[in-house]
Formats: sequence, structure tokens, C-alpha cells
Amino acid sequence: MKVAVVYESRTGHTAELAELIGAAAQELGHEVGVFPTGKINLDYLGDADMVFLGSWCHGIFVLGQHPGDGGKLLAMPGVWGKPVAGFISYLLAPGKVLDKMADVAEILGGEWIGGRNFKQTNKTNGLAGFVVAALDAAEERLGAPAEA
Ligand SMILES: Cc1cc2nc3c(=O)[nH]c(=O)nc-3n(C[C@H](O)[C@H](O)[C@H](O)COP(=O)(O)O)c2cc1C
Repeated sequence: MKVAVVYESRTGHTAELAELIGAAAQELGHEVGVFPTGKINLDYLGDADMVFLGSWCHGIFVLGQHPGDGGKLLAMPGVWGKPVAGFISYLLAPGKVLDKMADVAEILGGEWIGGRNFKQTNKTNGLAGFVVAALDAAEERLGAPAEA
């Protein structure tokens, strides 16, 4: 599949996660492009089969968590009809930020296939399994063969 990893990051943790997710997908044989929201290659995104959409967790640590700079995520084009998996970098308490990320994906016209929160101090924990599961779910959604 052609995979786009699009992210919003203020201090670099989500950017690092995005690169790790992209590298894992590439290792599985997929074509991968990784882009911050401000520098998306729109041709690439338009052709992509599925999208990993990432941001940082913004809240007051006990409640109100939502994707940071969600407005920038909502301004991106090209996700219509594509399976979207979310990823969030957080520090202490992600709350229900993934529910909000699902809302963002759906407002963009994507098909939410699930997501995962990643603690910024332990980014690789569960990452490989998350990438495999998301790619499998996307392929199933697209009716594509199981291999890349
Ligand atoms: C204004 C602000 C609010 C935050 N709120 C939360 C929060 O509610 N829960 C949490 O776990 N982390 C919270 N964080 C921490 C960030 O989500 C975390 O450091 C993240 O890894 C930053 O990602 P980035 O480096 O891609 O910007 C907050 C950070 C900022 C700047």
C-alpha cells in the first residue's frame, strides 16, 4: 500500500513517533511518506491508500484532552474515504484524546480504524504491533490483498 503519515508536533515528540511509524511500515514493504501538516505533499496524500494521523495531547492533564493544534489537522485535505489510524504523543494522562482524534478523522472524511496513545518517554512501546494492526485493518477496509 501507499501510506501517508501526517502529523502535528510542537516540540518534536510526535514528529519522532511519525518517523518511527513510517519506518515500521516501510520495513513491512509499504511505500511511505511522512509529512508535518504544514508541508504535506498533496499529490502523495491524494494517492495514498491509508493515513496515519498524529498529534500531541493537549488538555489540562486531568480532563479536556484533545489533539494539539487540531485546527491544523482539520485544515488538511485529501483524507476523504481513506482508512485513518491515529497516534498521539502524551506526557502523563491522555484521557479520551483518541476519541477526539477519531472525530477529527471523521470530519476530514476519513474512515477511523483505531489509534494508540504513546507516552513520550517510551515511544516504541507497542509501536510495531500498532503499525501491523493498523495496516491490516486498512487492507481489510480496502479489500486489498494481505501482502504489501
Ligand atoms: C499546553 C499543553 C497541554 C498539554 N496537556 C497534556 C495533557 O492533558 N495530558 C498529557 O498527557 N500531556 C499533555 N501535554 C504534553 C504533550 O502532549 C506531550 O509533551 C507531547 O509529547 C508533546 O508532543 P510534541 O513534542 O509533538 O509537541 C501538554 C502539553 C502542552 C504544551
